[in-house]
Amino acid sequence: MNEWPGMKIAFVGCGYVFDIYMRTRWAYPEIEIRGVFDIDTARSAVVHRHYGIPVYPSLEALLADPDVEVVVNLTNIAAHFDVTSRALAAGKHVFTEKPVTTAFDRTRELFALAERQGRVLAAAPCNLHSDAVSTIWKAIGDGAIGKPALIYAEMDDNPAHLMRLDTVQSPTGAPFPYREELQEGCTVEHIGYHLAWICAVFGPAIGVTAFSKCLIPDKRVGPLDPAETPDFSVACLDFAGGVAARITCSWVAPRDHRMRIIGSEGELSVDNAFHDQSPVRLERFSRVGLTARKAYTARRHPMVGGPFGIGGSRLPLVRRWKSHAGEAERGVGRSFKHKLVSWLRRREIYAQDKILGIAEMGRAIAAGQPQPMGPDFLLHLNELTMMVQGAGPQGTTRIPTTTFEPFTLFADIAASGHDYRAAYRPRLLERAVAGVVERLHRK
Ligand SMILES: NC(=O)c1ccc[n+]([C@@H]2O[C@H](COP(=O)([O-])OP(=O)(O)OC[C@H]3O[C@@H](n4cnc5c(N)ncnc54)[C@H](O)[C@@H]3O)[C@@H](O)[C@H]2O)c1
Repeated sequence: MNEWPGMKIAFVGCGYVFDIYMRTRWAYPEIEIRGVFDIDTARSAVVHRHYGIPVYPSLEALLADPDVEVVVNLTNIAAHFDVTSRALAAGKHVFTEKPVTTAFDRTRELFALAERQGRVLAAAPCNLHSDAVSTIWKAIGDGAIGKPALIYAEMDDNPAHLMRLDTVQSPTGAPFPYREELQEGCTVEHIGYHLAWICAVFGPAIGVTAFSKCLIPDKRVGPLDPAETPDFSVACLDFAGGVAARITCSWVAPRDHRMRIIGSEGELSVDNAFHDQSPVRLERFSRVGLTARKAYTARRHPMVGGPFGIGGSRLPLVRRWKSHAGEAERGVGRSFKHKLVSWLRRREIYAQDKILGIAEMGRAIAAGQPQPMGPDFLLHLNELTMMVQGAGPQGTTRIPTTTFEPFTLFADIAASGHDYRAAYRPRLLERAVAGVVERLHRK
């Protein structure tokens, strides 16, 4: 499915996240951006100036352009339904930022409309296609951790009240929409990054036990409406295959975006769900490693714990058709300062190729194949998101009404040539002291 004629797209909404989309645009010569429209004309003017992208005078004009095949909806969440439904009604395919909407019934309405129109409605996030997630998925399939049992997924985004979110801007000066982020809350904004990969790998959830609460109402950015959107949620998901997952989201705890999958024989861990090429580590459990882990120093200092197997080994990443996109960027500036900041951010903080979701959508349309993240899957994610958000401090256990056909490992990942289980070698010291530990245990 690598041959792809490409497609023509237009963006509605070009605020803060638009600049992130532009970072990897260079890697998609197949995609022609016909133009943008934003109700904030100052903002679209900036985008025109920086990127040379034409500006439509109205949404009607954009939708009337017969060359536009896909409308990319990057508007604020409250506008998602209106823009997406109008674009679908105009006969366009739509790729929307997450969440599709925050009302499950409305989300369902949009997918029904897409079906009636014979158009595709796809949605962010697209980290399911990242090298890190592809690597985890392949390693699980290879049996690298035995039978998967437990997932711990973190989405802590720092204590919002200390972060001066009101001062953050995108490279072209779009203010970070901190009010919306805090009013919608950490769960609506971010749980999808974990739900997408967890459900893709482990199938639909059959039960959701969740708790959500606002712990720090004063975010020091002035009044919020609503004032007490949960800034903390924890959800335990039950899967038909026997796996359980615990996902935590907060705007309270220091940043932690880890993904951990624990199986009967080992653990896979990824440092950062917001980094498409975050290091993936595999630790196959040994009595040496598990025993050494009891020691404080071995746990705290990789130089000490590593030789005993704690933390395992870093896996070579599966590479996908657009892996190179996030490895360089030609976004706003090409000055030395821009390049340095970009390199540091990609190395240390986060790197996401947001165009990839649009490209995956277009590639499937062109090939006449089902979408990698189809309507049932996206509806399920939307339902789970709203269940967790709405759980409240008393907590709830709910059975999702939605489900989807479980995924099979994407063919190119399966053919990547890695066999992570076969390639794993315990550390030298781990093997050397195995006998000693065995003897100590006997005494
Ligand atoms: N901020 C982030 O880091 C981030 C990251 C990933 C995804 N997202 C998602 O992306 C979407 C946009 O977020 P953002 O941070 O860019 O917000 P933003 O407020 O910076 O930008 C939204 C833009 O949409 C425009 N807009 C609103 N309604 C419109 C309409 N009806 N027609 C045309 N333009 C309209 C606004 O004028 C604004 O310029 C949201 O769904 C958000 O959840 C944001």
